[in-house]
Amino acid sequence: MKKYQIIGGHKLHGSIEISGAKNAAVAILPAALLVDGVCRIENIPQISDVTLILQIMQELGAQIKTINRTTMEIDCSHIVNQRVPQDMGRKIRASYYLVGALMGRFGWAEVPMPGGCDLGSRPIDQHIKGFAAMGGAVDVVSGVICGKMNSGNRFKGGQVYLDIVSVGATMNIMLGAALADGMTIIENAAKEPHIVDLANFLNSMGADIMGAGTDVIKIRGVERLRGGTYSIIPDQIEAGTYMAAVAAAGGEVRICNVIPKHLDCITAKLLEMGVEVIEEDDTVLVRRDGPLTRTNIKTMPYPGFPTDMQSQIGAVLCLAQGTSVITEGVWDNRYRYVDELRRMGASIQVDGKVAVIEGVEKLTGAPVHACDLRAGAAMVIAGLAAEGVTEIDSIHHIERGYENLVEKLAAVGAHIRVVETPDEEAAQPQVG
Ligand code: EPU
Repeated sequence: MKKYQIIGGHKLHGSIEISGAKNAAVAILPAALLVDGVCRIENIPQISDVTLILQIMQELGAQIKTINRTTMEIDCSHIVNQRVPQDMGRKIRASYYLVGALMGRFGWAEVPMPGGCDLGSRPIDQHIKGFAAMGGAVDVVSGVICGKMNSGNRFKGGQVYLDIVSVGATMNIMLGAALADGMTIIENAAKEPHIVDLANFLNSMGADIMGAGTDVIKIRGVERLRGGTYSIIPDQIEAGTYMAAVAAAGGEVRICNVIPKHLDCITAKLLEMGVEVIEEDDTVLVRRDGPLTRTNIKTMPYPGFPTDMQSQIGAVLCLAQGTSVITEGVWDNRYRYVDELRRMGASIQVDGKVAVIEGVEKLTGAPVHACDLRAGAAMVIAGLAAEGVTEIDSIHHIERGYENLVEKLAAVGAHIRVVETPDEEAAQPQVG
């Protein structure tokens, strides 16, 4: 079993290059299925969620050529299959984008119900409502999302009001609507940077999408999408995670290749906590020498504080003077990391969606578990700041969403490495 081993207490100094955005990439890559031509996509993050999406697309008949570490050419002119294999689709949340993309191009799709992090109930009713408003019929049969058209083989423009601001539903409806007959209007749409990135990708391939980044998006369907070149935006959450790491461990790090505007919601909170953040063109300089001060956080859809930064900022607040309150406003169950932080000496009480954190003088290293992707990132942050050795298991969760995390942190002075230990279950003596 692979683990991260961190010897905490070392300040971070240097610079970190941010990779392409995971949650943009996992929608933009499936969006290439809509394109009748070659898409050259740049700034693709090397993470396991992306590898899986590309494997699925290859299985469906996409031809994928690696140009360099972060650039690929994807040709979906000859897709042969609209049925996603069970074992592959179930491993990743974003496989639901294959429903919108495949139905949008071919009129039908069969995609296993998605997996991903366990954050409580993760319904897809708003996706299904959107497809229904465009003349699609989507049922879940034996764990498979089966989508087809009520008539013909194209979606028809429709009006969709989302009952909940949903990133996934907004992007999936955009994918379905890009090649529909007529105009689709999404009201109460999500506004995250990756929504705008998907719209920009589709527009650069010939789509006609207006309003992405506001709460009303209008998509006028076009006959076909042609190929082109597109570069994925930098990852807001990866950048925020390293900003939080500097806040917790102390030091001074330049976070490079970012869009500072996307980080405003995170920067504002770090400033309140006594961390210096200086924005430059495409970098932010993060510095922390003095004590951390308490603050309150409520996670919300963009431009609010991102739920995907909740656990990382929670780890930092464990070391802030005073009492901080976090309110999770998006997911039902995103506090599974709290028990792990308690092992390191954190003082946190959780009641439903609210966590109350009493700052402590120090955290101490311990063996901990990465319960999910962002919870795992929180353990890394706590480990960097803690006294002694922290070992984090289940790091496959972290590798789903962070490219070269160990290398990036080691380059700024963190004492972190991957260690291999015998698989504990396999090592158990057999009984009976
Ligand atoms: N929701 C519904 N019905 C739906 C869809 C969503 O009730 O049909 C609810 C959810 O249960 C949740 C809320 O709406 O309470 C928001 O969910 P959303 O659809 O926005 O989330 P998602 O698209 O499934 C994406 C990211 C998550 C991130 C959320 C919120 C991807 C692949 N995942 O999930 O990222 O937390 O948006 O920003 O883009 C992560 O990267 O760690 C991660 C979990």
